[in-house]
Amino acid sequence: MLGEANRETINVFQKAEAEYKRLVTDIAQRRTIDKTKVDAVVVFLMTASKEKRQEALQRLGGAAVSSEANVVNVIILSTVIGMTLKLSAERINQLATAALLHDIGMVKLPKEQSELLAKSKVTPEQRNAITTHTILGYRAIRRLGYPEEIALVALDHHERWDGSGYPRGLSGEKISDLARIVAVAEAYVSQPNALTKLFGKDRGQFDDRVLKALGNVLEVRPIGREKPPSAEKKGQGGTDMPSGGLSGARVPRPPSGAPQGTISASLESPTKEGEAN
Ligand SMILES: [Fe+2]
Repeated sequence: MLGEANRETINVFQKAEAEYKRLVTDIAQRRTIDKTKVDAVVVFLMTASKEKRQEALQRLGGAAVSSEANVVNVIILSTVIGMTLKLSAERINQLATAALLHDIGMVKLPKEQSELLAKSKVTPEQRNAITTHTILGYRAIRRLGYPEEIALVALDHHERWDGSGYPRGLSGEKISDLARIVAVAEAYVSQPNALTKLFGKDRGQFDDRVLKALGNVLEVRPIGREKPPSAEKKGQGGTDMPSGGLSGARVPRPPSGAPQGTISASLESPTKEGEAN
């Protein structure tokens, strides 16, 4: 049962999705982007992730119904992981901006290629074509005047800690740190049974520090296994998750019942002129 304030929160997240969709349309149609709109979405979602953390994370519990919803979820989760890792406000802003822009290279791909990415099986040739979205995204973001740290997330978000990713096959800390966060966030929000995979067979693909932060965010605890020798006691959270059973749920926490306020950031951008609908 949703309260009025909860419904209001959901509505503003939907507004963020609509704004993101307009941004993508702008990029596709005009080959440009209104950075003030990017900033408006980023500030809104950062504020919502802080002030409405439970509601924001509850969005992640179900499958995203659109690519826009998926990107908004990636921004929210990246931001909350960044907060958990105690990144500075400036770095979290860069992280959220990068999470928003990380897949804009897809817009530059022919439609049939971008649709392939949604399919689980692609041929090596198709995969090669798709990998270019990381490079196209990097170039586009740099051309827009964003700093290297933000562009690198577009370039590196499909790199994997064990070196199995693309486009450069980087491994470990050679992968940009913000990209390692976005990679975990995207892997979590984009696939069913994500936790089982992330803390099971796919664990070697991701930065363990980021995975532990995800565990803290979701309050996931292992069941039926002992903690590995490297387990750290950080107080709350129980973040060491060996492969196997997981007691966490995709919806991380029950509502606290605390009174719901309003989100202080606004999505209203300075200009509405020329927006594609
Ligand atoms: Fe991507």
